[in-house]
Amino acid sequence: MMADNGASLAEWRLKLRGALGDDIVLSEAGEMAPYCRDWHGDVTSQAVAVLRPRSTEQVAEAVRLCRQLGLSIVPQGGNTGLVLAATPDAEQNQVVLSLERMNKIRQIDADDFSAVVEAGCILSELKDAVAGKGMFFPLALGAQGSCRIGGNVSTNAGGINVLRYGMTRELIFGLEVVLPDGSIFDGLSTLRKDNRGIDLKQLFIGAEGTLGVITAVSVKLTPYPDQVATALLGLASLDDAIRLFRRARRDCCDLLSAFEFMPPLALTLAKEAMPDLPIPIAADYPAYVLMEISGSGLVDIDDLMARFLEIVMEEGLVVDGTIAASQTQARNLWLIREGMNEGQAKRGMHLRTDVSVKLSQLADFVGDAEKAVEAAVPGAICVSYGHVGDGNVHLNVLPAAGTTPQRRAEQIYTAKTAINEVLDRYQGSISAEHGIGRLKRADFEARLSPVRRQLLTAVKRAIDPDLVMNPGCQLNFPLNS
Ligand code: FAD
Ligand code: LAC
Ligand code: ZN
Repeated sequence: MMADNGASLAEWRLKLRGALGDDIVLSEAGEMAPYCRDWHGDVTSQAVAVLRPRSTEQVAEAVRLCRQLGLSIVPQGGNTGLVLAATPDAEQNQVVLSLERMNKIRQIDADDFSAVVEAGCILSELKDAVAGKGMFFPLALGAQGSCRIGGNVSTNAGGINVLRYGMTRELIFGLEVVLPDGSIFDGLSTLRKDNRGIDLKQLFIGAEGTLGVITAVSVKLTPYPDQVATALLGLASLDDAIRLFRRARRDCCDLLSAFEFMPPLALTLAKEAMPDLPIPIAADYPAYVLMEISGSGLVDIDDLMARFLEIVMEEGLVVDGTIAASQTQARNLWLIREGMNEGQAKRGMHLRTDVSVKLSQLADFVGDAEKAVEAAVPGAICVSYGHVGDGNVHLNVLPAAGTTPQRRAEQIYTAKTAINEVLDRYQGSISAEHGIGRLKRADFEARLSPVRRQLLTAVKRAIDPDLVMNPGCQLNFPLNS
């Protein structure tokens, strides 16, 4: 393979190895394969090399070298992203820069409710380490055993606890970032209040690696919620689920920490993925809610959950329900939510969406969008579930069993177009929590106002004028002329 500037793959690899050392550079196809394949294995690509630095200085050196060689950089954390943002595309000059070896926890400071951690630390390892000191890092998502904190920051990840603690953005004190020219932005403060001018860290949160490489993060901690009550509830409709959510926020004194909505098919999908998983509720209610309230200290969480459910069941808002009597039972309820994702994957390539509308319009939107999909792709199955409290639904579409791969791809496109048309009428977002990546770039670009595009281009040009960082991700920026 030859690049435009005449350099060959072999020359690039030789120069990378010569300057950075064999320990850091992977360039065999087999070794690079896992870094060049997306989470679901729907898309595979190639890279010039995979770089695995061990320190911020090594990241800076690698960035400077890539820039000098005319190579562009795709940062990668746990590679669990769902929008093709962390793997290279068809361009021939891309290296993957994996943060996986930068996984140290630099400090946990329970007295200051803060921790400082390298970008490659796996989310669940950070959560476990701070739990050991009686503290809690509230970001929680199905991929937490694999995703890494730098990836979470770069996607501004959401997850199941957003309704109480906010998106990743709200959990961050500061960042250390290697900029595209190789300089290091040291913004790793743990100050709670700091209004010294424009808050530059915000530029990198949710940037999906398009402005620099995050190498370390200082995060906010809260006391560990040692009391948790979890319930799986059967309801008559999504509309009732939203009414229940509003009641729960008020009646549970803002101690509500998760409120997830699932359709009845979720129970079947979870069973398909985990045949031994106990399902302690009948599978024939139109809607299900997985609800959690939690707290630390002097509150009585079990009593609060019991009293709340007694009232809403008496009123008929909740038809049926089960409260977990142990941590194992609570874990099994959450496995239904996680298993339903796995069950969908087992049914083959399908449409995964991540949309949001105003909470008050969520039920109408889901009804209209599902009708639009049924009309556009007869026979396909809609699976609408997600983070109700955030107005965020994953309205996924599974082509019928036996559909050929080519027809599947066509149906996915048709269903996505139908959903987006309805979403635009509701003035919703095509990406509530997963980001844009390469997968949603065209849909994002099509909906950008000229002023927003101008601002985004100005920021990119100011920080990454040579378009070194993650080209093709989020937007196709024109080179400075
Ligand atoms: P990657 O996939 O490696 O990268 C994501 C983006 O960040 C890419 O653009 C990459 O270039 C960039 N990046 C990574 N590290 C850095 C860095 N150090 N510096 C600069 N850029 C970087 N997401 C949610 O929001 N909520 C959910 O509930 C949720 N559930 C999920 C459940 C499952 C089963 C799976 C597979 C995924 C789920 N996700 C969810 C999506 C995904 O886990 C998140 O987007 C996560 O934040 C990605 O982290 P990562 O380390 O895997 O990042
Ligand atoms: C979830 C991921 C897909 O909520 O965002 O399961
Ligand atoms: Zn989600």
